[in-house]
Amino acid sequence: MEKKFLNTINGKIYKSPPVWLMRQAGRYLEEYRKTRSTAGGFLDLCYNSDLSTEVTLQPIRRFNFDAAILFADILLLPHALGMNVWFVAGEGPRLDSIIDGFKVKNLKPANEIHDMLAPIYQTIRNLSHELPRTTTLIGFAGAPWTVATYMVLGKGSKDHNEVKTFLNNHMIIFDKLINHLTEATIEYLSAQVNAGAEVIKLFDSWAGALSGTDIIKYSYKPMLKITKELNHRFPEVPVIVFPRGVGGGYEMFSNTSDFSVLAIDQSVPVTWAKKLQNNIVIQGNLDPIHLVTGGKKLRHEVNYLLDNLNKKPFIFNLGHGITPDAKVENVELLLKYIRN
Ligand code: CP3
Repeated sequence: MEKKFLNTINGKIYKSPPVWLMRQAGRYLEEYRKTRSTAGGFLDLCYNSDLSTEVTLQPIRRFNFDAAILFADILLLPHALGMNVWFVAGEGPRLDSIIDGFKVKNLKPANEIHDMLAPIYQTIRNLSHELPRTTTLIGFAGAPWTVATYMVLGKGSKDHNEVKTFLNNHMIIFDKLINHLTEATIEYLSAQVNAGAEVIKLFDSWAGALSGTDIIKYSYKPMLKITKELNHRFPEVPVIVFPRGVGGGYEMFSNTSDFSVLAIDQSVPVTWAKKLQNNIVIQGNLDPIHLVTGGKKLRHEVNYLLDNLNKKPFIFNLGHGITPDAKVENVELLLKYIRN
């Protein structure tokens, strides 16, 4: 029984590549909505190992994806570091805000996160036993920049101008925050690997808001530091990085052998991504809209991706998370196109 996903990262090419979907456990699945409604709030779901195990397994049972991603959230780390975090229905996450007075120096030390995150490690241990032998288990964290954007503003943002204003005006504090998150993320991910995560993914969902030297300083370097330390501690565990929205900046991320896989968003031209495959394994990048709209267009775009990217080791995924309005029948069609 082979793990297609891990073999691909190690250089193998398959006629039908391994496939999984970002946010594959989520609201487009009726069984998720059902479990979610019994859990209380979203954070209660994340901290309930039995329910988190269940919702991680749901898309695997239904679609037999090649990888399962731990069900959790990138905002559990600021929560474990001592910030209040809550989710407002229909609006998204809310946190204490550094702009509004939360002090970086009041964050807990990086090695004091584990008591609160213990249920997450338990979910990973459960999954190691319950997943099919052919499924690879992915652990994850937000990259320091993306997590910092939520901590600074206390919520999500469209343009991140307030966060960048803070960064430029309070560089010493902001750099302390990034360094602290880098250390805490190494702690968190090391514990995930010790619990049984086989691959790690770093989500830098808002990397595209950075520019100039800040892309290097706040997205590339912190992810590289985390990855180098993980590679040192766990040489057999590959790291996937997803600096979403960095455009031509993806080339820099493809040029280091520390990262094992580069996940790309749907704005990257597929023919250009093909060139990056000389440097690194690529994961991506179907536009999530095709799982809403389906039809001939879905098939056409899947074939375009496979024709271009599947001559080298390639992991099929979306360019961002599957949306709540995606249709299960379109996911089934997608898999049919990839697997047949
Ligand atoms: O299948 C999976 O991917 C499950 C695990 C997972 C979730 N969030 C569950 C979730 C993962 C890997 C994440 C990552 C995450 N969380 C990111 C990075 C990836 C990305 O999408 O860019 C970010 C930025 C967050 C922060 C976050 N969590 C936001 C902004 C929101 C609200 C927006 C929304 O989609 O509702 C969440 C909530 C969240 N995280 C949900 C899920 C399934 C929906 C909450 C619900 O069920 O009510």
